[in-house]
This record gives sequence, structure tokens and C-alpha cells, in this order.
Amino acid sequence: MRRKIVAGNWKMNLTFQEAEELIEEILELLDEENAPAEVVVCPPYPYLELATDYSEEGMIKVGAQNISPFDSGAYTGEVSASMLKSMGVSYCIIGHSERRKYFNEDDKMLTAKVNQALKHGIRPIFCVGESLPEREAGRHFEVVRSHVRHGLFHLDTDEFHKVIIAYEPVWAIGTGATATPEQAEEMHSYIRTLITERYGEEIAEATIILYGGSCNSSNASEIFIKKGVDGGLIGGASLKADEFVSICRKA
Ligand code: 13P
Repeated sequence: MRRKIVAGNWKMNLTFQEAEELIEEILELLDEENAPAEVVVCPPYPYLELATDYSEEGMIKVGAQNISPFDSGAYTGEVSASMLKSMGVSYCIIGHSERRKYFNEDDKMLTAKVNQALKHGIRPIFCVGESLPEREAGRHFEVVRSHVRHGLFHLDTDEFHKVIIAYEPVWAIGTGATATPEQAEEMHSYIRTLITERYGEEIAEATIILYGGSCNSSNASEIFIKKGVDGGLIGGASLKADEFVSICRKA
């Protein structure tokens, strides 16, 4: 059985005080819970320590939103995988479409980031997904195949085993236009087929694949219930504690 995961990608939002309030509220609400899905919060770098302190209670895990492709040294502004690991960070979002678009992160860069994360015991949440023109042109499978292959398929089986994949169609991110449950199911199943071809069925069946893109408490159930959807990577809706915890309950 694959573990369900719901991860909140806070992106570049909230002040320090708001971040602390949000984590406290999430923990309070989760307190009433009987171990729902694994709950991950991915705050901006400066708030990671705050989050890892709270994570010591064992209710949440912490993910970073970025990671350096380099090991250590003279790379001004970068944060290394070993630094994140030493702070108690468990996951890192890699390959998000916003980083591909605004920071020109290409396959080579993403591969280096994935390698760094795994080398230091951080589980990548690797994002893949097509843009609207790509879907309209019927190229969505081709694009996702390219993201998965170029970003991950250099890994050996033991390494790949630690990777979580997030299918995030770019046209669904922050737009309110969620993929239909059928579209999500179809793409998750396609990704699992690709993994089967490369690593075999056992690994494919064990790989956690999340859905992301305008997921909220109203639509989460119908998406999460689909075969092969193992939870969500949540943007906007992860900034409100009640909304986020409600999504976690649905996984
Ligand atoms: P939204 O949930 O705001 O659409 O963002 C999804 C996302 O990009 C998560 O990484």
C-alpha cells in the first residue's frame, strides 16, 4: 500500500509571523486527527527552521521549495542539500513549472538537484506537467514523458525508489481550472507505465504520484479517490489551515 501524502507548497507567501500562525493552526487541527495522510509543509527557506522545530512533535514533515545543484562552497545565495538535511528537512520540491519558467531550470540542472537531494537523504518531490498549448496540441503525454525520463531515469532503482512524483499540469496551477479526476487518473496511470518500463512493476506500484493544480477542499475527494492518485501538492489552498487540513483528511 502506498502512503498518501499531502504537501503544501507555500511558494513565496506569508510573513514570519503569519507562517508561525499557520503552522500552529495546522497542528491544532491535526491534533484532532487520527493520523491522516503524511502531511508536509514546504515554507520559504527563512521559515524552515520554524517548521522543523514544530515538526518535532511528529505531526508534520518539512519540505524545501528549492535546493542547490552544488555540494558546497562559493555559490552565493545557494542552500545545499546537506544544510537542509542538517535542519531536519525531509523533502524538496524539484522541477516545479515556476522554477522551470522563471529561473530557466532545465533538465541538466534538475538532474543535478535531484542527485544532490538523494545524496543527502532528502526525498525529491519531482514535478512534471504540460502547458495549455501542449495539451491543446495533444502533446501532454510526450511532454510528461520527457520530464520524467530526463529528470529521473538516470537514477538506479534504489535511488528512484525514494522519489515522489507530482503531476502538475501548468494550466491548472493557480487558475482554478483543476484537471478533471479522469485527466489526473489517465496521466498518473501513464506515468506509472513509464516507470514500469524502466524499473519494473514492483517499483512502479510503490511510487507515490501526487496531483497538483487548483486542488482544494471541494475537489480533493473526487481527485484523490482515483486509482493511482496518492495525494496532492497544494499551492494556494495550503495557506489556510482549515482548508489545508480538510484536504489532508480527504487523502
Ligand atoms: P495551486 O494549488 O495554487 O494551483 O498551486 C499548485 C502548485 O503549484 C503546487 O506546487
